Amino acid sequence: MGQLFLPRANAIARLIVVGIPLLAVVSAAALFAYARSDFWTKIDTPFDQPVPFSHKHHVADAGIDCRYCHTGVEQSPFAGIPPTETCMTCHSQIWKDAPILQPVRDSWQTGRPIKWQRVHDLPDYVYFDHSIHVAKGVGCATCHGQVNEMPLTWKTQQLYMRWCLDCHRQPEKFLRPPNEVVSMSYQPPRDQLAFGKQLIQQNKVHTAGLTDCYTCHR
Ligand code: HEC
Ligand code: HEC
Ligand code: HEC
Ligand code: HEC
Ligand code: HEC
Repeated sequence: MGQLFLPRANAIARLIVVGIPLLAVVSAAALFAYARSDFWTKIDTPFDQPVPFSHKHHVADAGIDCRYCHTGVEQSPFAGIPPTETCMTCHSQIWKDAPILQPVRDSWQTGRPIKWQRVHDLPDYVYFDHSIHVAKGVGCATCHGQVNEMPLTWKTQQLYMRWCLDCHRQPEKFLRPPNEVVSMSYQPPRDQLAFGKQLIQQNKVHTAGLTDCYTCHR
């Protein structure tokens, strides 16, 4: 009887047996790396918006406080995006015929909200609350970067669990006096660690349980 399988067939079979799972592992790893890459998570990439809203112009040049527009940030989990009405308090007077503001006027006339694209979006299974961070002295800039320099808004952090945990393990590295929370020019002192520990005492920051799964996944 002739040989049914040539020795070469063996080598090919081995190649297939080893090769396919290897290929699967490599492509899974590549896919994972891609999903976590800065390109996919859109870090440092400005988001296109229906109106090219500039924090640089409104915060740095016009000097408007974050809380004038993000009204929920001190009392609620959500900072909130301002309604068209907020824009119209100024833009019914200034730049009132500018073509760039046409979508704002359309929204005002029709009552249909402007469809802002979300820049930050945590998965639904994560619980986050602005008010506690603001009350305990975590600056907007610590999590959102120098928003006052952004002509269009982008993310400076990927909002991964390890990023939240980095601070929840050692909040003293990041805390500032609560009255400096919205400041975009605040500079931490040289002895931040000692100062941070003092702030933990002063502002009654509860460090126990901050890394428990239940704190963020409830
Ligand atoms: C005049 C109103 C106004 C002021 C003042 C303002 N913002 Fe905003 N902010 C907006 C609008 C409108 C958007 C939605 C469009 C965008 O993402 O740029 C926004 C979006 C954002 C976002 C992204 C939200 C998302 O989708 O994830 C952050 C973060 C933010 N603002 C932080 C700040 C901080 C910090 C300050 C103060 C330094 C500030 N804003 C001041 C109007 C304002
Ligand atoms: C408290 C007053 C005030 C409010 C509220 C306000 N703006 Fe403005 N806006 C200004 C001023 C002042 C300028 C001119 C800024 C400049 O030229 O430096 C401006 C300019 C603009 C421009 C022209 C382009 C630019 O950035 O220079 C756009 C677009 C704009 N605003 C959109 C908005 C939108 C959208 C909202 C609501 C989310 C809003 N503004 C709320 C004061 C305001
Ligand atoms: C501890 C980090 C942290 C601090 C401090 C912080 N933010 Fe945020 N912010 C986030 C995260 C995380 C999200 C995304 C929330 C989500 O997807 O549910 C977010 C979302 C937002 C949004 C989008 C709308 C919303 O309510 O989800 C705005 C606007 C915003 N932040 C403004 C601010 C302003 C203004 C301050 C300072 C007064 C501030 N944030 C302080 C982490 C922070
Ligand atoms: C730079 C520091 C910092 C970062 C980053 C940060 N946190 Fe916090 N977080 C704090 C501090 C400080 C507190 C207040 C602890 C206290 O006194 O109760 C807090 C409290 C919380 C609480 C409230 C706990 C309670 O008892 O209600 C939740 C929920 C939370 N953080 C979720 C998150 C999530 C989710 C992220 C990431 C998306 C995050 N935090 C990122 C510093 C931080
Ligand atoms: C300070 C907030 C915080 C705490 C505490 C926390 N997580 Fe998370 N977790 C997050 C955030 C934010 C995400 C979503 C972003 C990401 O995927 O990294 C997440 C995502 C996850 C995921 C999704 C899988 C993944 O990595 O993509 C799992 C599983 C998870 N957490 C398990 C846990 C467990 C178990 C604990 C307790 C040991 C825990 N978490 C504690 C904030 C937290």
